[in-house]
Amino acid sequence: MDNFLSIAHLSNEEIMSIITQAQRIKAGEVERFEGYAANLFFENSTRTKCSFEMAERKLGLDVIPFETSTSSVTKGETLYDTAKTLESIGVDVLVIRHPENEYYKELVNLGIPVVNGGDGSGQHPSQCLLDLMTIYEEYGTFEGLNVLICGDILNSRVARSNQEALTRLGAKVRFAAPDYWQDKTIDAEYVKIDDVIEELDVCMLLRVQHERHNGGKTFEEAHYHHEFGLTAERYNKMKESAIVMHPAPVNRGVEIETQLVEASKSRIFRQMENGVYTRMSILSHILKKGEK
Ligand code: CP
Repeated sequence: MDNFLSIAHLSNEEIMSIITQAQRIKAGEVERFEGYAANLFFENSTRTKCSFEMAERKLGLDVIPFETSTSSVTKGETLYDTAKTLESIGVDVLVIRHPENEYYKELVNLGIPVVNGGDGSGQHPSQCLLDLMTIYEEYGTFEGLNVLICGDILNSRVARSNQEALTRLGAKVRFAAPDYWQDKTIDAEYVKIDDVIEELDVCMLLRVQHERHNGGKTFEEAHYHHEFGLTAERYNKMKESAIVMHPAPVNRGVEIETQLVEASKSRIFRQMENGVYTRMSILSHILKKGEK
């Protein structure tokens, strides 16, 4: 693996290799590397940025501090020149989040590997693999699992990555969303949450992406919660073995009733925990390739 950019670029074998290595890392099998990493976040982040930094440090990498607000990006330096600069000064791997879909296309010929921390409404492949690790930890397979992804599909890079990966690995993935947040370019069935809630193995809620709605508030929160949110009534109808997921940050009381965020079926904080192991595994796959 030269770069880690999109689920579409990963074979099923590579996905499973990253997940199973993440599980071994979680069990205590940690390799150490020498080198430098930089995390370039042109969009705000708590989980992805901090968990990549935690992963880098746990692998033994030195992290070069980079904040867009104090960098020469503020003087108009391009993404390409910023990445080329960090390569030139000796950084070994870049983790980048950027608001433009497929921003990474202009960077693939650099000599430095790029890990996509999220591109616009395109892909969020490390979130996808930490979600898959969390599901695999629960069920030991993806084959035949009944998964609902519910919410702001249109603006969600998580929905796109997860639908693609889970479908390829044998899960049955369906969407629930208001008309205005449906994405007809994705080949998936839309259902009503109440029609499927009792049969789900995984109920994956998506964050309402306020920042991608062009400033205007396009919906009424209480109505959305009633129609598409995980209420206590819906939660109680789920199978005992079913799990609730959300990439976070959570809009409490909108996508999910606040007391359900840490309920027994919720894996929301487990996802964050697994994010560190998954990102260690991704970086390890990239750095080992670089050693060859
Ligand atoms: N899930 C996720 O990508 O969270 P952050 O935006 O905080 O990184």
